[in-house]
Amino acid sequence: MSDGLYDEHPAFYDVLQSEWPYDRDLGLVATILDRNGGDADRLLELGCGTGEHACRFADLGLNVVSVDPHEGMLDVARTKCDLDFRRDALPALSVEGPFDAAVAIRGVVNHLAPDELVPSLSAVADRLAPGGVFVFDNAPLPPDGNDPALAIGSTEAGDYARIAHHVPTDDGRLDWRALTFTPDGEFFVDRRPMTPFSDDAIAEALFDVGFEITYHDGYGPGDDRTVFEAVLPGT
Ligand SMILES: C[S@@+](CC[C@H](N)C(=O)[O-])C[C@H]1O[C@@H](n2cnc3c(N)ncnc32)[C@H](O)[C@@H]1O
Repeated sequence: MSDGLYDEHPAFYDVLQSEWPYDRDLGLVATILDRNGGDADRLLELGCGTGEHACRFADLGLNVVSVDPHEGMLDVARTKCDLDFRRDALPALSVEGPFDAAVAIRGVVNHLAPDELVPSLSAVADRLAPGGVFVFDNAPLPPDGNDPALAIGSTEAGDYARIAHHVPTDDGRLDWRALTFTPDGEFFVDRRPMTPFSDDAIAEALFDVGFEITYHDGYGPGDDRTVFEAVLPGT
């Protein structure tokens, strides 16, 4: 496994994601938090990456703890806002609750192995207060893999190119392979296992852990993720 992006070039993540509508994501999550009591204060963010959502959650007045396993991503996040950014990962979380809400936005769950799904959802449930809500998405990964595709993007420093694809593996996962050439003449490799969970598998795991579920078609128009609103019973 080689996480060239997350480990060696985390700042380039923001170049690749420069068009991402973070405010759109936040719109749905804020609506869900409002619907579930409206008085959420403590928020746990899992897989915060470079902190774009985290800083926006803090601007909403939430008391945010954001975790990610990649120190480089956290370092980039720390340059953006002064929050509690910690190195931590599902399923063996060190952070302690209780939190009123938790989020894991944009394929974070797809980084888990199949046998880590229930332990991860349990770890989140253990850190939520009664009635707490967990909002996260399932990325629509191709279970049978896909062909290598080239993406070219422009930055102020010049163009970059990225060739990427998913290769199915015997364990039902995908081997994500990407080669990126940056405008400054460098290149790096990403290779990491991803899991194409079915929505049904996630729903069943949430049910087993004790969550009640509402489904959403993405964070907004044009988003093909399934977003889960998973709520624990209240007191
Ligand atoms: C596609 S990025 C999304 C980052 C951020 N949420 C965003 O929307 O920009 C997926 C993130 O999940 C993190 N991640 C990978 N494995 C994880 C795990 N086991 N627990 C928590 N986060 C994880 C990665 O380090 C990465 O920052």
